[in-house]
Amino acid sequence: MMRVAVITGGMGGLGESISVKMHAAGYRVAVTCSPGNKHVDEWLENQKKEGREFKAYQVDVADYESCKECVAKIAAEVGPVDVLVNNAGITRDSMFRKMTFEQWDAVLRTNLYSVFNMSKQVIDGMLERGWGRIINISSMNGAKGQFGQSNYAATKAGMYGFTKSLALEVGRKGITVNTISPGYLGTKMVLSVPKEVMDTKILPLIPVGRLGSPDEIADIVVFLSSDSAGYITGTDIAANGGQYM
Ligand code: CAA
Repeated sequence: MMRVAVITGGMGGLGESISVKMHAAGYRVAVTCSPGNKHVDEWLENQKKEGREFKAYQVDVADYESCKECVAKIAAEVGPVDVLVNNAGITRDSMFRKMTFEQWDAVLRTNLYSVFNMSKQVIDGMLERGWGRIINISSMNGAKGQFGQSNYAATKAGMYGFTKSLALEVGRKGITVNTISPGYLGTKMVLSVPKEVMDTKILPLIPVGRLGSPDEIADIVVFLSSDSAGYITGTDIAANGGQYM
């Protein structure tokens, strides 16, 4: 029986790599994207050309009721969820003094409330079946803080506390809960950082001397999802090129 994986934000920069690698690892993969996404059909078509079948769902992960409907639909159309990857995330970078409530609120809702909203929908089924994986995509910046990201870093640090607490609650039932904390990857999100900041404040601080690739994170997701990783729970796997140790 093929396991079912849900990747939120599964068509985006990092999300797409995770979706593709999980598909290659033998999962039936459902991806979610925001309701406004106009490229769903095109994305599915392109994946099909590469021999990959995905189911796609448009859902605002910041909205609890929408997540409930979405996961019920996934359960009916794809199957009960075995692996949940809470990957959907946004940035609204601004120095704190200039940050608006809207910038704070949008990031909190999309990056952190989503983790509650989605995990709530899958946890009972995982407990009943005695197996499950929840993988939360945090960030190095949640651990170290980042100039201009008091909102984003708060959500990514929040994931650590959530992860450890839930891991304690469900560990005996075959469910692991972990975070992965990527550093700077070559994705659209990171490449939208002003070039001057990238060249002077980010790249010179990465010991391996380059941005990470999304595939390097997706491989960790595949491993954490596997039976081999059953003894790893409540922890974080950092992949940041040595930028924060
Ligand atoms: N460390 C120290 N000083 C910094 C700095 C940094 N990282 N970034 C900017 N500054 C300084 C600037 O040099 C500038 O100094 P002066 O006033 O002395 O010239 C001052 O702060 C103001 O900078 P800006 O002119 O850029 O101010 P702004 O208001 O236009 O923009 C900002 C501020 C939004 C924070 C912008 O600098 C920025 O986007 N920085 C990048 C933030 C970042 O790294 N985001 C990560 C996105 S990727 C991601 O989030 C994925 C992940 O998980 C890793």
